[in-house]
Amino acid sequence: MELTGEEQAQLDALLQIYREHVKVQEMKQYMQHGVISTYEHVERVTRVCFLVNRRWHLGANEFALIQGAYMHDFYLYDWHENDKSHRLHGYHHPKRSCENASIYFQVEEDVRQMILTHMWPLTITRVPRSKEAWILCLADKYVSLAETLFMRKRVLCG
Ligand SMILES: [Fe+2]
Ligand SMILES: [Fe+2]
Repeated sequence: MELTGEEQAQLDALLQIYREHVKVQEMKQYMQHGVISTYEHVERVTRVCFLVNRRWHLGANEFALIQGAYMHDFYLYDWHENDKSHRLHGYHHPKRSCENASIYFQVEEDVRQMILTHMWPLTITRVPRSKEAWILCLADKYVSLAETLFMRKRVLCG
């Protein structure tokens, strides 16, 4: 699945304010899976969310979907570093990402919920409750698995 030129332009327009932000740029320093930075990871997850919503006519709110997807891993640290505060990263980082999203951007409650529930079922009590949250939760797992297995950009879409 590929984005058309027009879709790419629409996605770029939606993401412009985030990509330009210094704190978002900071994600380029942190590694997510193998050689993939957190910045590349959120770019890829956002693209998959946008694409499946369009192609499969899922009818999710595109603006909320893009916002939540782009900030779902906005925790701003390298989780591989042996630091006490990074313990149980998988469990705690949605909350940290949600806090950062609220500090640096204007995010509504539906987007906050998307970020907070994206690690389900690891975070067993934080279950996705919206279409947007389910798309993000599943797209993140798909992309994370592919990044972990292949650790190469070209294997995935784009
Ligand atoms: Fe995450
Ligand atoms: Fe993620």
